[in-house]
Amino acid sequence: MFKSIRWKFIIVYFLLVFIAMVIVGVFIVQKFEEQQLENRTNTMVRQIESIISTSSYLAEDNWSAVSEEIQNTLNEWRFDGADTLYIIYDDIPQVIATSSKNQDKIIGQNALRLKFLDPTLTLKAYEGEREEGIRKDPNEDTIFKHLAYPVVSEIGQVKGILYMTSDLQDIYKTLDESKKILTSATILALGITIVLGFLIASSITEPIRDVTQKAEKMAKGDFEQFVEVKSDDEIGQLASMFNYLTLKLKDTIGEMDLEKSKLDTIFNYMADGVIAIDTRGYIIHANPIATDILGLGNIFEKEFVNIRTFNLEEFNLDKIDYNDPNNLEGDEIVEINNIVYRVRYAPFRNEINNIGGLIMVFQDITEQHKLDNMRKEFVANVSHELKTPITTIKSYTETLMDYEDIEEELMCKFLSVIDNECDRMARIVRNLLQLSNMDYNKTVWNMVEYPIEKLIEDSCLKLDLAFKEKNQKVNIKIEDNIPDIPIDKDGIEQVILNIISNAIKYTPQGGIIDIYARAEEEKVIISIKDNGIGIPDEDKARIFERFYRVDKGRSRELGGTGLGLSIAKQIVEAHGGDLVLKSEYEIGTEVDIILPMEGYVTQT
Ligand SMILES: Nc1ncnc2c1ncn2[C@@H]1O[C@H](COP(=O)(O)OP(=O)(O)OP(=O)(O)O)[C@@H](O)[C@H]1O
Ligand SMILES: [Mg+2]
Repeated sequence: MFKSIRWKFIIVYFLLVFIAMVIVGVFIVQKFEEQQLENRTNTMVRQIESIISTSSYLAEDNWSAVSEEIQNTLNEWRFDGADTLYIIYDDIPQVIATSSKNQDKIIGQNALRLKFLDPTLTLKAYEGEREEGIRKDPNEDTIFKHLAYPVVSEIGQVKGILYMTSDLQDIYKTLDESKKILTSATILALGITIVLGFLIASSITEPIRDVTQKAEKMAKGDFEQFVEVKSDDEIGQLASMFNYLTLKLKDTIGEMDLEKSKLDTIFNYMADGVIAIDTRGYIIHANPIATDILGLGNIFEKEFVNIRTFNLEEFNLDKIDYNDPNNLEGDEIVEINNIVYRVRYAPFRNEINNIGGLIMVFQDITEQHKLDNMRKEFVANVSHELKTPITTIKSYTETLMDYEDIEEELMCKFLSVIDNECDRMARIVRNLLQLSNMDYNKTVWNMVEYPIEKLIEDSCLKLDLAFKEKNQKVNIKIEDNIPDIPIDKDGIEQVILNIISNAIKYTPQGGIIDIYARAEEEKVIISIKDNGIGIPDEDKARIFERFYRVDKGRSRELGGTGLGLSIAKQIVEAHGGDLVLKSEYEIGTEVDIILPMEGYVTQT
């Protein structure tokens, strides 16, 4: 309670007034006492001197002879009730006259033995000095002023002493009264001080208390706190400053909230996963994508924070040295559940500006990774596909060069192999060029309305020899309702030729190939179905990839490059159509060429 400013204020005020009153009081009382005593002494001296000057008997040398006269003078003298005079004479100081009522008991007594006279003063006065003093008798509760006044003869000898006592009771009574008045005044002043101190302290502490209470509410997040500015003194300035601070804080926190909500939105809705881990490897933040990626469960679970440890080893981060800030940035490629992520990490600092841990961003690069791999695979495939015929050509030409007397028949055989391999290389290069032109939209499509029926019949005619070689039966069924649609005749013919020749190639001797063309919902569909070797399920997804073949060796033997279907698909897609492959291993394959009736070409 006494810790509050209000009480400190009151206590200080109280002490100040108390000390001031005590000092002033003591000073006044002392001065008053001194003044009164001095007045009394002066009165006593005046009285004695006037007795001496008016009483002719005291001018005599022998006072014993005139003692009666002296006594008579004293009897006539009007003394103040408080004062008593004793006239002391002779070598043995003897009281020869007194104004006291008990004259009988006192006159003739030795002054040094009288208890109400001070022998020291008497003796000193006999030496010719005026002596005075205050004598207290605590037993009788009396206080007297004593004055011993020597009367000196013309030759400088002390004749006797006029010893006067004066009761000081009245003075001390007055003094006591004054002290009481002063004490009451002090008490009253202190009372007023307490009340005034309380009021003044309140006028200072109330606004401070108000500011404190409102600051407390602000600390709890309520920024609608304003204090009333009642004056323009320091307290008023504090209040206005507080209000200004509130406004500033409200603005700043508002801005921060806005920024935070923006960041939260970015954090929660960004396509990449983000987590923060501390230096012990505990996850302290994770956005929804990251929780999905890492299978962390509900991040809003209470126990989420600080319990999920993070497998640093999986990210090659187990040996990370947090003391070396230069090595805390980097990236790693990791695969989680068949999805490839680039994990970029960088350190963040905590409140005390130390490294608090790492922020890790998970970027899904599966597609890019796949494309990268495909590109690498493609380059490897091209090199491989070209290397095989080159090796063959090289070895055959070397043999021809090495043996001059080689039989003509064998030479013709060798040359035919070289020729075939050259054709094959030329085919690969041609196909690759065609693909590349299509990739870069460089192919010029010559769109004309051409009857599908004629296209199929022409293709079959071109492949008639191949059918016959393999003794395969071709059933062609073309519906009447097929309109002429705008197509690039050579392109679509290439597609049909490739698919029919695939059917021939991958269908054993005596197989059946059905070609069925129809119009259906704004589309023209050409189905080429065989009862050949079919395609295993695991290969189906990749069958349209460049150079992809189910049985590489066999396909190569059959002269295939593995580019036919990918070229076909690209041509059909350029027409706005689609190529759909259905196949059952060892049962047969059906490829549907779907073309839209509206002419559509990707070329710009
Ligand atoms: N009708 C089919 N029956 C069985 N397998 C097929 C059939 N059509 C294609 N395939 C498989 O798909 C692969 C890719 O066919 P694609 O036409 O692209 O290449 P290719 O026929 O080997 O060579 P190219 O067509 O360049 O001469 C073939 O190697 C083959 O394994
Ligand atoms: Mg083919």
